[in-house]
Amino acid sequence: LRRPLVDRFGRVHTDLRISLTDKCSLRCTYCMPAEGVPWLHRDSILTTDELVRVAEAAAALGIATVRLTGGEPLLRKDVVDVVARLARITGPDGPLELSMTTNGLLLPKLAPGLAAAGLRRVNISLDTLRAERFHELTRRDRFTDVLDGIEAARDAGLAPLKINTVAMRDVNDDEIVDLVRFAAERELELRFIEQMPLDAGHVWSRVRMVTGEEILEQLATEFTLTPLPGRASAPAERFLVDDGPTTVGVIRSVTKPFCGTCDRVRITADGQLRNCLFSREESDLLTPLREGGTDDDLARVLHRCIAGKLPGHGINDPGFLQPDRPMSAIGG
Ligand code: GTP
Ligand code: 5AD
Ligand code: SF4
Repeated sequence: LRRPLVDRFGRVHTDLRISLTDKCSLRCTYCMPAEGVPWLHRDSILTTDELVRVAEAAAALGIATVRLTGGEPLLRKDVVDVVARLARITGPDGPLELSMTTNGLLLPKLAPGLAAAGLRRVNISLDTLRAERFHELTRRDRFTDVLDGIEAARDAGLAPLKINTVAMRDVNDDEIVDLVRFAAERELELRFIEQMPLDAGHVWSRVRMVTGEEILEQLATEFTLTPLPGRASAPAERFLVDDGPTTVGVIRSVTKPFCGTCDRVRITADGQLRNCLFSREESDLLTPLREGGTDDDLARVLHRCIAGKLPGHGINDPGFLQPDRPMSAIGG
């Protein structure tokens, strides 16, 4: 049972993404409706002891990196304690390497504590540089909080700092060059992301999606881009901007899937393992955690989850069905 998490296609799983909550402080139009979504049941949310146990079980099977996601992970009241406890777990190469994907709003308050507790780096979501547009897109007037969050993360030494931007037609595709300049001025690595069919409203359309190719074409009108080598399993293709040191990334999940090198497994805030963002099945860890399951029982569930992993997400296949859970309940 203590063997690595290798699937039928030889993919070795070393990265665990833990969703700390499905709640969020923003209401991005591409993610959820204004009124939010039906939240997960309070009683089913993994406790911190349970999260730690999951991470220990995963680390024993070769998980080396853990990313905390949401919803918005910083909304979890004890998030600093979660980080401190996860940072003490030893993976195959030493302590687990901890990172987080966040909307940044609470970083001014929490970044120093998170860094002290052992968080290494954060990826911050930012889709526009215009305060009014930010308000429309997220339905909250919090643009300056994100900017403050970016600076707080930098001051706390959470590096390298990355910005995630979902590119959307007629929404923010006129800011692609501006966003890169913004990142260059602040020594941030910005990544443009192709929008995936994970919205709560199931209204995603391929036509609205701005492709990575279109983004690169736009960038090429202003900058000289030189491809950079990267980690095989990394979703982002990275490019040097002009002579550097700025780099920019594109995450072409839809038009150039990277499923073949996927090394990720996810756990939702309510204790369900998913072998893919798009998996249609989940493996229940909550029940063994709450009903006296042994470490071997947890390992068995992890192995079973990976054994059922499909070769790809299937977004481009005829008859593709969006998962029932929206991104906010799966974990980004
Ligand atoms: P780094 O370690 O900094 O490279 O993190 P990351 O890019 O893997 O994590 P992040 O949470 O910042 O993810 C950025 C974007 O990549 C997300 O918004 C998704 O669009 C996409 N992404 C993350 N995980 C997956 C995945 O498992 N499958 C696919 N298709 N896309 C993913
Ligand atoms: N497709 C791609 N990325 C998405 N995100 C949220 N919804 C989608 C989607 N449908 C991004 C957020 C954040 C990360 C967690 O995922 O903007 O950067
Ligand atoms: Fe919140 Fe992220 Fe969804 Fe926006 S995309 S509403 S920040 S969970």
